[in-house]
Amino acid sequence: MSEHRSLPSVPRHIAIIMDGNGRWAVQRGLPRVVGHENGAKAVRACIEGCAELGVQYLTLYAFSQENWLRPKAEVSGLMSLLEKFLHENTAELVAKNVRLQAIGRLTDLPAPCQVQLNRAIEATAGCNGLTVILALSYSGRLELIDAIKSLLREIELGHIDKAMIDPETFSKHLYTRYYPDPDLLIRTSGEMRLSNFLLWQVSYAEFYVTKKLWPDFCKEDLLEAMEEYSSRQRRYGAIHEG
Ligand code: FPP
Repeated sequence: MSEHRSLPSVPRHIAIIMDGNGRWAVQRGLPRVVGHENGAKAVRACIEGCAELGVQYLTLYAFSQENWLRPKAEVSGLMSLLEKFLHENTAELVAKNVRLQAIGRLTDLPAPCQVQLNRAIEATAGCNGLTVILALSYSGRLELIDAIKSLLREIELGHIDKAMIDPETFSKHLYTRYYPDPDLLIRTSGEMRLSNFLLWQVSYAEFYVTKKLWPDFCKEDLLEAMEEYSSRQRRYGAIHEG
């Protein structure tokens, strides 16, 4: 990281759509899974960068509900990689005071993956530095449906009155109820799509799209995204006079 740059204002919560692993591999004549392996290295660097820069929450789109439709070999490669990543990195997460969390339909994951995930979550539960939230078997639309079902249950039980439902109440039924909404959403590989990610939560987030493919995304790119974020004026739909 450049020593002569002044530090940008740091977003409290960064969310990332990590895209381009496949293209990165294809460009090199390598199997797609090698792209994912290098993507996992970029995940490590990104966690390290966010922890160093004082980001409080980092949500990573690691596996979408739609990703189950990929060829079987790629899906099992990704699941093994996730399991290995958690196994090999939990001690370092603890050493760096990083708390690991996960959102999505986690019971869809293969059992060994769930075991490693739960171990990592438990091992890091006492850490109070950066919180890393892995979105796994995640779908923004299904999250909204799950929230509506949960609200309906509460109404049926008489715990809440439907006239009282406002954005704040609704947010409390999302998978992300324990975390603030993202301030900055980064997407790599140049695509300008949300791809069913955090549909409700990114309502006021600043978007930053880079052409870099995810395995090439490094701390310098993170800093560049933060600099761009610092230069934006966030108005939340209002106009500030004066
Ligand atoms: C998108 O690239 C990326 C994914 C579907 C998975 C993201 C996974 C990782 C970064 C590695 C494992 C994660 C952890 C947390 C260890 P793509 O395959 O859609 O790329 P393409 O659009 O170029 O084909």
